Amino acid sequence: MIGKTVVVTGANSGIGRVTALELARKGATVVMICRSRSKGEAARDAIIAESGNQQVELILADFASLSSVRRGAEEFLTRHDRLHVLVNNAGLYLGERLLSQEGHEMTFAVNHLAPFLLTNLLLGALRAAAPARVVTVSSGAHMAGHIRFDDLDSKRGYRGFRAYSDSKLANVLFSNELARRLAGGGVSSNSLHPGAVATNFASGSGGLLGIGFGLMRPFFISPEQGAQTSIYLASSPGVAGVSGQYFAKSRPTRSSAESTNVAVQRRLWEVSEQMTGLVGQGSGGAA
Ligand SMILES: NC(=O)c1ccc[n+]([C@@H]2O[C@H](COP(=O)([O-])OP(=O)(O)OC[C@H]3O[C@@H](n4cnc5c(N)ncnc54)[C@H](OP(=O)(O)O)[C@@H]3O)[C@@H](O)[C@H]2O)c1
Repeated sequence: MIGKTVVVTGANSGIGRVTALELARKGATVVMICRSRSKGEAARDAIIAESGNQQVELILADFASLSSVRRGAEEFLTRHDRLHVLVNNAGLYLGERLLSQEGHEMTFAVNHLAPFLLTNLLLGALRAAAPARVVTVSSGAHMAGHIRFDDLDSKRGYRGFRAYSDSKLANVLFSNELARRLAGGGVSSNSLHPGAVATNFASGSGGLLGIGFGLMRPFFISPEQGAQTSIYLASSPGVAGVSGQYFAKSRPTRSSAESTNVAVQRRLWEVSEQMTGLVGQGSGGAA
């Protein structure tokens, strides 16, 4: 990965932290996108110390705010003109319905709208670096998801696991649609399930999944094991040119029927363009 620039979102904790560390160990310039300055700086300093790689940078962006995502993308583009790998890893689970800065349901906003916008804003840099890769961390929970186009912000009722599953289905739909839009252009897009991983995920979030996750954590795989598929998709020559696939345990795996529905992929893309303000703004998107 020497000479390559990699962005990892949510890189201060769990799967994202290990992904950033291992890609730094492989020699990449790693740009960590994190929401907390203190946690981000502590993780960056530790990754530099553990990897021996000084080329580890931090950009602050809170995915609960699309304007913050835009500022983060602008900061990246002022420092770098090429991006070889984007790892869309940041994500959360919420037991209660909260709203993002723009008034969207928070799980959908942070897990789907923010990486959708970030990826589109960085597409020019990805194309400039081709062959390049977009890796999106979804979840096996997407299998229980369904995209309710008439209620994307869960106004009619909120359940944490449903909102999470729906957002993780949105990740696979987005990744598949991106792969089709970028076909032949040297930028691949794949999504993945990391396994059930003992991280900070869902801690303090309340709700059934939060409680269940806490109880089950001792039986989960380590963050080092959980990051392996992300690292594989970000760096292995074995997946050069592979695109539009969903992986688990570093192998292509079948995703849900809805995730492969091209009409749903297209519609979600178009709605997301409107929700993020990408439409008609000359973003250089993959339309
Ligand atoms: N753990 C599992 O079993 C599991 C299973 C399937 C899928 N996943 C997926 O794996 C990914 C990584 O999760 P993890 O398990 O490593 O959990 P984690 O340790 O909680 O890491 C999540 C990362 O996302 C960041 N994040 C959360 N909200 C954010 C926001 N508003 N703006 C910017 N960053 C934000 C967190 O930042 P803070 O530290 O500041 O909160 C943290 O860096 C997620 O997409 C998750 O859905 C995890």
